[in-house]
Amino acid sequence: EAAEKGGFPHYMLKEIYEQPWVLENTLGGRLREEEGDVDLGLALDPREVERVHFIACGTAAYAGWYGKYLMEILARIPAEWEVASEYRYRDPVVDGKTLAVAISQSGETIDTLEGIREAKAKGARTLGVINAKGSSITREVEEVLYIHAGPEIGVASTKAYTAMLAAMALLAVRFARARGTLSKEAAQALIREMRKLPRLVEEALEKRPIVAHIAEKYHQAQDFLFLGRHVQAPTAYEGALKLKEISYIHAEAYPAGEMKHGPIALIDERLPVVVLATRGPLYEKTLSNIQEVRARGGKVIAVATEGDEEIPKLAQDVIYLPEVHPLLAPIVSVVPLQLLAYEVAVLLGRDVDQPRNLAKSVTVE
Ligand code: G6P
Repeated sequence: EAAEKGGFPHYMLKEIYEQPWVLENTLGGRLREEEGDVDLGLALDPREVERVHFIACGTAAYAGWYGKYLMEILARIPAEWEVASEYRYRDPVVDGKTLAVAISQSGETIDTLEGIREAKAKGARTLGVINAKGSSITREVEEVLYIHAGPEIGVASTKAYTAMLAAMALLAVRFARARGTLSKEAAQALIREMRKLPRLVEEALEKRPIVAHIAEKYHQAQDFLFLGRHVQAPTAYEGALKLKEISYIHAEAYPAGEMKHGPIALIDERLPVVVLATRGPLYEKTLSNIQEVRARGGKVIAVATEGDEEIPKLAQDVIYLPEVHPLLAPIVSVVPLQLLAYEVAVLLGRDVDQPRNLAKSVTVE
């Protein structure tokens, strides 16, 4: 087993460190920079699709949330995301112009499988964004976009998440190009940034010492709050989920702009608040959210873009990440949040790879 972990103390840590290589695998052969497009080998014609439904569970559902943003921003197609256990039972409005996308690492999650069956029965076109080759969902859908993350053993998903995010970016670029909503030049710029992702994630991994220091400082906290806006809202939710899953600390995530409608009441000097504050369209608004947290005594741990000199004036702790296209920032930003959950869980002596009550793949309802 020690050999299988490649010298790492846990599968989860090994998988976190595999992410640069995984992104290379997910993206590598598919980018066509010269044409300003990506080659996904799909027969489906994006021009025949009028709406997209992303269906998934757990971590994969947050990838669907990110997919919704990218699909609408880049390809201008109405898109929704939903946890499969709701989708399958609520009689969703679906027709032949709907593309239902099941996102799943294992390809075996029962709710996701049943959700895609439901969409199919209503006449939807279907696509799987899947890791495990030949799994049940791959046999249920018309076409599969494999994320090529390799086997994931740690119960808490890490490398499959970043690979799913990369797959969402690929899908959105393809749809946007086919539908003429993204210029060749804009696509080329995005693709160039996608090429950099493995290296940028490598740089994010180098932040482990500062993350370990933050974990040391806050691992006794009862609760954590995670905030993010726009494409970083799903990142906040995934960060909170990782922490809950493996450390058993209660963590809640909120879209930062919604904080004033509730969670602001929870803020006091005992509450660490992790804020995704990388550069992007809502950066200034996020800064004011940080000020609101500070004004109430909350402890701010900010994830920020290298060179940002405003953030350290406001936050107690800053994790700097390399600059990247704002739409791709979640792929880099989630890495320190995975490390934070890991370091906290280890300090608390938790069973990182086999957290209590959780299963790697949930095949019964
Ligand atoms: C379980 C796992 C999670 C995972 C979810 C969905 O709850 O513990 O890590 O995100 O299932 O799994 P899937 O295989 O469908 O991506």
